[in-house]
Parts: sequence; structure tokens; C-alpha cells
Amino acid sequence: MTFQFNEENQKQVTQILAKYPSERKKSAVMPLLDLAQRQNSNWISKDVIATIAQILEMPEIKVYEVASFYTMYNLKPVGKYLLQFCKTTPCMLRGIDKIMKDCEEKLGIEMDQTTLDGTFTLKEVECLGACVNAPVVQINDDFAEDLTSENFLQILEDLKAGKEFKVGSQVGRQCSAPEV
Ligand code: FES
Repeated sequence: MTFQFNEENQKQVTQILAKYPSERKKSAVMPLLDLAQRQNSNWISKDVIATIAQILEMPEIKVYEVASFYTMYNLKPVGKYLLQFCKTTPCMLRGIDKIMKDCEEKLGIEMDQTTLDGTFTLKEVECLGACVNAPVVQINDDFAEDLTSENFLQILEDLKAGKEFKVGSQVGRQCSAPEV
């Protein structure tokens, strides 16, 4: 099936392209991949790559090279909630391993897998840049910080029930202020 930007996103494509000289329009590859991914159920299919390559007049392999380099682009379908667990040192020291293990046990899947109902996908990533509030899990576009197994499993329950989760610190910390 061919991917096409919808009407609303087509306007955004025009706006994005207007930011670059026409002979440098390849520079728009990252924002176009992001826009397409959001329209395409949060992943980059071969059709998406083909369409973007056509718009930017560049080889498909070049678009693929960008899409496969950055972890923010998903090259296979993901669940409604993409849970990205930070495994870098501060989060490891603050207990991300146990949170990951407990999450895998609760959902019955491992990293890089999606629950059968298509609700959750688990992924291990490098530093998310919020180390002061480690451990951190990115849930779609938002961060859950200062996590414990208990508060993270509660977040999973809330998401399953269709509720929103509290973005940021889960222990009431103000921004990145020291814990009291
Ligand atoms: S180490 Fe986890 S956010 Fe930086």
C-alpha cells in the first residue's frame, strides 16, 4: 500500500520544505520522517521511505540510512504505548533493571516485543537526558521519572485502563530539585 501524507500533514510538508533552499531539500528528511511516523501508527514502513525519497528527490537507501540510524524512528510496527527504558549508568544505578524485569513479567513479553493486544512495546535505549531524575522511561513523547517498580506498574495499570499518567517525577520532585 502506498503511503501518502494526509491533507493536513501535506500542508506541514510544504511548510517544512519552505525552511530549506530548494537545492538542499534533502535536509528536511528528519522532520518528514517524524511527521510520517506520527501519521503511520508510529512506525516507518518501506512505503513511507519511498514517499519521502520521492518528495526529497533522494535515493530510498539514503532515507533508510537516516531512519535506521536514529532510535526515534521505528522500523517495525509498535504498540499504542512505546515504552523506552533508559539503560545508561545513572538509571542502572537507580534501579532500572528491576523495573524492566518486573514490567516484562507483568506484561508477559521481553524487550523488543509487543503485547498481543497491541497495547505495549518495550524497548531498551541509551540515556534519555533526564538523568537527574533517574530512573526514567519514555512513554511515547513523555517521560516518567523517579520510577520504582511500584509506581511504574501503577502507570501500566492506568494506561491499560485508558487513563493518562502523570508526566515527569513520580515522587513529587519539583523539576530536577534535590529530593527532600
Ligand atoms: S542515564 Fe537515564 S536518563 Fe540519562
